[in-house]
Amino acid sequence: MNGLTISSFIASLPKVELHIHIEGTLQPALRWKLAQRNKIPLRFKSQEYHTYEELLESYNVTYNHRPELGGRKDVPTFLEAYFAGCEVLLKEDDFYELAMDYLARCRQMNVRYVEPFFDIQAHTRRGIPAEHVLNGYLRAQREGASKYGVRSNWIFCFLRDEPVEDGEAAYETALPWARSGHGLFHAVGLASNAYERPPMLFKKAFERAQADGLHITTHCDFGQKDTHEHIRQAIFDVQIERIDHGLDALDRDELVEGLVNRNVGLTLCPHAYHRRTATEVLFPKLRQLLDGGVKFCINSDDPVYMHDVWIDGNMEKAYHYGELTKQEMVQLARNAVDMCWADEAVKKEIYDELDQVDVR
Ligand code: ADE
Ligand code: ZN
Repeated sequence: MNGLTISSFIASLPKVELHIHIEGTLQPALRWKLAQRNKIPLRFKSQEYHTYEELLESYNVTYNHRPELGGRKDVPTFLEAYFAGCEVLLKEDDFYELAMDYLARCRQMNVRYVEPFFDIQAHTRRGIPAEHVLNGYLRAQREGASKYGVRSNWIFCFLRDEPVEDGEAAYETALPWARSGHGLFHAVGLASNAYERPPMLFKKAFERAQADGLHITTHCDFGQKDTHEHIRQAIFDVQIERIDHGLDALDRDELVEGLVNRNVGLTLCPHAYHRRTATEVLFPKLRQLLDGGVKFCINSDDPVYMHDVWIDGNMEKAYHYGELTKQEMVQLARNAVDMCWADEAVKKEIYDELDQVDVR
């Protein structure tokens, strides 16, 4: 990982992951297996991947370009690659296997608790029945806890670049799997391409979810068009509980004040930004946030489409390039517990474990 190896301190730290897209954890080996099993051709636009090696090569997108902002149009964007990956997921067992693979990996990385995002519209718009997705994830949620000891509460995401009404209809379909029903998800979020799709468009949808007893969070991607306005809307107009990314808040005092005064935390994913931001520009921002009293935690986003850098790699980057101390890294892990929406008993177990970490 850019010459960095994961230290034993980071590897053994008890972790909470609050910003991971389950579909962004679909590893090439499982994608290949499901493509064979479901007889789905592996391709992106006119490009077909005939061998496993060709498929692997397709993950080497090295930069995060935005065609709508003048970036290249001849290579897939990260989101296009991500949605192309979803095409092999058809049956309940496929979704179950995807999630179980991820939860097994959580155990290896000492992730104790996770709130994975899922994009149900990425599947229903391909004609996949919602129950295949929801029952697959539900089975994995239960077995992940019993088999691997990894507890999870999931987050339904609206695809912000689809019509709001489609998101609302998907939500209605999924509602029986929310915390008052089967208990799969306890929050809603806003994901996919943010270009000209500000959080306010989904205000009513968020209000509806809150009325149903769910938590609310939204992506405010780093370096996007209108990024400060999106963050402003999220904090003051939608009154969101957390922001996913939101690092551009540092450019405006009123946004930093809003985050601090309203106790809105940021779920940051350093490697996602490091793909197109110089080390010396990016990592001092972590110190700035700490000094400004903004709560944040370290997460992974879409590890498979981001050079296989998972939460441990993201934490190592923060530790190493951000020049944070062991004590500060434990504080960031504790921030994730503060910011998460687990039961108090689950939180207490993780706080207790963090109290035992040797920071010398
Ligand atoms: N959906 C999946 N990954 C995403 C990301 N990094 N930003 C916005 N939407 C996403
Ligand atoms: Zn994300």
